Amino acid sequence: MSISKIGIMTGGGDCPGLNAVIRAVVLKAKARGWDVLGIEDATEGLIDVEYHSSHGNRWLEVADVRQILPRGGTILGTSNRSDPFRYVVERNGVKQEQDVSDRCVANVARLGLDAVVSVGGDGSMRIAKQLADKGINIVGVPKTIDQDLAATDYTFGFATAVQTATDGIDRLQDTAESHDRVMVLEVMGRDTGWIALHAAMAGGAHVCLIPEIPYRIESVVAAVKARRSEGRPFSIAVIAEGARPALGAAALAGPRKLGEMPKFFGAGHRLGAELEPLVESDVRVTVLGHIQRGGTPTHFDRILGTRFGVEAINAVADHDFGKMVALRTPEIVRVPLQEAIENQRVVDPSGAMVMAARDTGISFGEGQ
Ligand code: F6P
Repeated sequence: MSISKIGIMTGGGDCPGLNAVIRAVVLKAKARGWDVLGIEDATEGLIDVEYHSSHGNRWLEVADVRQILPRGGTILGTSNRSDPFRYVVERNGVKQEQDVSDRCVANVARLGLDAVVSVGGDGSMRIAKQLADKGINIVGVPKTIDQDLAATDYTFGFATAVQTATDGIDRLQDTAESHDRVMVLEVMGRDTGWIALHAAMAGGAHVCLIPEIPYRIESVVAAVKARRSEGRPFSIAVIAEGARPALGAAALAGPRKLGEMPKFFGAGHRLGAELEPLVESDVRVTVLGHIQRGGTPTHFDRILGTRFGVEAINAVADHDFGKMVALRTPEIVRVPLQEAIENQRVVDPSGAMVMAARDTGISFGEGQ
């Protein structure tokens, strides 16, 4: 089979660097004489080829990817509610999840696509693997600000998110010191604390609470009080949205809605409310939220996205499907999609990063 038409889609939460991948894929594919269909909103544009929210499925030209390298977001649109294996449909006024993946297979044939490049996080890679098992020629490209895919050393988006969170800590340091306050900064990270850990280290925070190390409020209070007794009456505590107390659960907005991921909500405010009566300082809480997902990508994320896009086209040209491109520093390699979805990268509580953080005075709120 010779390749002449491919599709590209971006799935899951957006992150800085997605446009770098799209640009690289289009530039390299067009140079080979291939047509590139930009599929709208993840698999939405494959489930229904007439689907149109704001971008629409469209054939991409080189002109479409000019000037997009510094732009956050994705020019294709994305969705984290379009799993074709658990797609929400309404029947007799009742919403239910249904497997509509056959539609994707039929539409790939209808559109004449010889292959599809799927850019996404763990959820999108799982969908890509399932679609590959149904016969779609698919190549995965990993993205996530959460840095929680073990099959690649880094995902693009993470460095930019960490820089944004670090900038937040720098700003909080100023006002915390002026007012002698305890500042809580909640950052993203549902299952893993990579953003919290890296930002806490880069920003010189004093407490870092992550999902991998359940915390005790007494330990956090002890860390804050120890600083006060050393003549440092202000503290910065960074907390991942998925962090939980040793005797409690992660803070959720409520039960998972049909077709959606569980929504984390309130970890920072819960910590702030617990701390306030136990420390002598005022406590203020900042939730950084989706600010971490936007903005211009760092040079690292632009280059990684570009290298991933180039390698995805190499994989398509080699008919090397069912693979995900990955960084094994300094090389870009291809790994089976199965490997990509099997292994989550979590923070090792006794690993080198956590040790270095502890050695420079960061409390993880454990023990006692
Ligand atoms: O997976 C990236 C992520 O940013 C998580 O850290 C966060 O919980 C989630 O996306 C939020 O997604 P949504 O866009 O649905 O609010």
